[in-house]
Amino acid sequence: MRVAVLNGPNLNLLGVREPALYGHQTLADVEAMVRAEAASLGVEVEWSQSNHEGVLVDAVQALRGRVDGAVVNPAAFGHTSLALRDAFLAVQVPFVEVHLTNIFGREPERRHTVLADLAVAVIAGLGARGYVVGLRALVDRLRAG
Ligand code: DQA
Repeated sequence: MRVAVLNGPNLNLLGVREPALYGHQTLADVEAMVRAEAASLGVEVEWSQSNHEGVLVDAVQALRGRVDGAVVNPAAFGHTSLALRDAFLAVQVPFVEVHLTNIFGREPERRHTVLADLAVAVIAGLGARGYVVGLRALVDRLRAG
């Protein structure tokens, strides 16, 4: 089984960026956690991050036929990007949406995402653990058929 992990804008600055909110772990630390979990589940991971909406749209389009599912932290584009939503609608690849913070308890403009209703699940507020929980949930769902 193959799973892609897609990360949106500014997540490359994890560890430096607003650490009181997003924590001290870097994106490389999160990647290492996810890869360790994936190895124990017998799952291959493709990891990527982009600050650019079009690059993320291309990445979603490229999921089709190549991976079984995806774990996605769309970052701010999750609140705004109909292009990303349309890409997920087009490819029909199951995905779990992950946010480090509990977006539902933050500013009003962060409480809604344009992807949530398409997702297998939304995990928000667990910090970096959310990626691991999301991966497990996705793999469980995919293995259940
Ligand atoms: C985030 C939440 C978003 O509102 C924000 O724009 C991010 C990170 C999170 O992981 O908590 O960049 O997706």
